[in-house]
Amino acid sequence: MRVTNCQNFHDFRRMAKQRLPGPIFNYIDGAADDEVTYRRNTRAFEDCDLVPNVLRGVGEVDMSVTIMGQTLAMPVYCSPTALQRLFHHDGERAVAAAAAKFGTMFGVSSLGTVSLEEARKIGNTPQVYQFYFHKDRGLNRDMMSRAKLAGVEVMMLTVDSITGGNRERDKRTGFSIPFKLNAAGIAQFALKPAWAINYVMHERFRLPQLDDHVKMGSGTSISRYFTEMLDPSLNWDDVAEMVRQWDGQFCLKGIMSVADAKRAVEIGCTGIILSNHGGRQLDGSRSAFDQLAEIVDAVGDRIDVILDGGVQRGSHVLKALSLGAKAVGLGRYYLFPLAAAGQPGVERALGQMRAEIERDMKLMGCRSVSDLTRENLRFR
Ligand SMILES: Cc1cc2nc3c(=O)[nH]c(=O)nc-3n(C[C@H](O)[C@H](O)[C@H](O)COP(=O)(O)O)c2cc1C
Repeated sequence: MRVTNCQNFHDFRRMAKQRLPGPIFNYIDGAADDEVTYRRNTRAFEDCDLVPNVLRGVGEVDMSVTIMGQTLAMPVYCSPTALQRLFHHDGERAVAAAAAKFGTMFGVSSLGTVSLEEARKIGNTPQVYQFYFHKDRGLNRDMMSRAKLAGVEVMMLTVDSITGGNRERDKRTGFSIPFKLNAAGIAQFALKPAWAINYVMHERFRLPQLDDHVKMGSGTSISRYFTEMLDPSLNWDDVAEMVRQWDGQFCLKGIMSVADAKRAVEIGCTGIILSNHGGRQLDGSRSAFDQLAEIVDAVGDRIDVILDGGVQRGSHVLKALSLGAKAVGLGRYYLFPLAAAGQPGVERALGQMRAEIERDMKLMGCRSVSDLTRENLRFR
């Protein structure tokens, strides 16, 4: 399969599956427990229909948006994800460069495989640093100063991962970092020698955001990092203190309730990401799209409400914007293309997304994002 044959999310997913060893593909593709929330994330968009207007003179379309003070040329951005150099040897370098070409924001994860400083130098579009809150408050302060010094524009604290989700596919394959595969997992790697050759021929796998603080390998794995180093007692006062320290654009990723959205406003956050972590944390949790209207009605005039989860089409983006989201985060939508073909893959996928949004805005009779309103939507 060639990248030029990939016309949509599903084609890229198939190509990624062909290229990646099974345990790595399943790490990306999998989610928590029965994966009910994961499936609902995309299906939620299908319970809602667009109602177009015609004859509106839509020769030119402006799809730019401004969120948390950052102007994006398109209303989607690359949400932070872990371990990208495992999926393709260029990892975050490829994603940052592709996002810059499309004038949009990208996120570097605490579990990123390229340093936030190096990523910051790749393009000049806004960068998010995704933060996990550690028990060690000194470590939290150091990481924030490091991000500030590097010129990161937006601090994003993930609040839905106080403990690791139950990823049963990973348990079955034995996927963990460092690798500790079972026999079936090892056999899966043997079936993909091209991936293995690439992996050993390129620079050593690292977690540069954490290297100075956590010694992965000497008894610490990513799952132990979640259970032992992150602070499950994290509360609103801790976050309020972080917001003060950061003193800039600050958002919470993983907000789902109206009460929490209101607290985020009160402590001075400038954005919230409605997210269930791609269904990877609390299975049975509501989809962000299903929950969007309630949150927009409660706080949409005081904070930027953003959504992620299950977005695979331009029409999904239009539905979210019509309900009141300011922008939409992409996860697996760019990860499968990264795994399939590196930077050209991510560029092709972002190009397809841009073309779909533009075409669909024209077909909806909308010249700018502000023309998208609830009038254009009907739920079944
Ligand atoms: C492989 C993978 C790794 C992820 N790593 C992180 C992470 O390190 N930090 C984080 O806040 N979210 C992480 N996420 C969640 C994404 O940022 C995003 O919320 C989610 O992927 C959106 O759902 P989607 O994949 O259906 O688009 C990860 C998601 C995937 C699929």
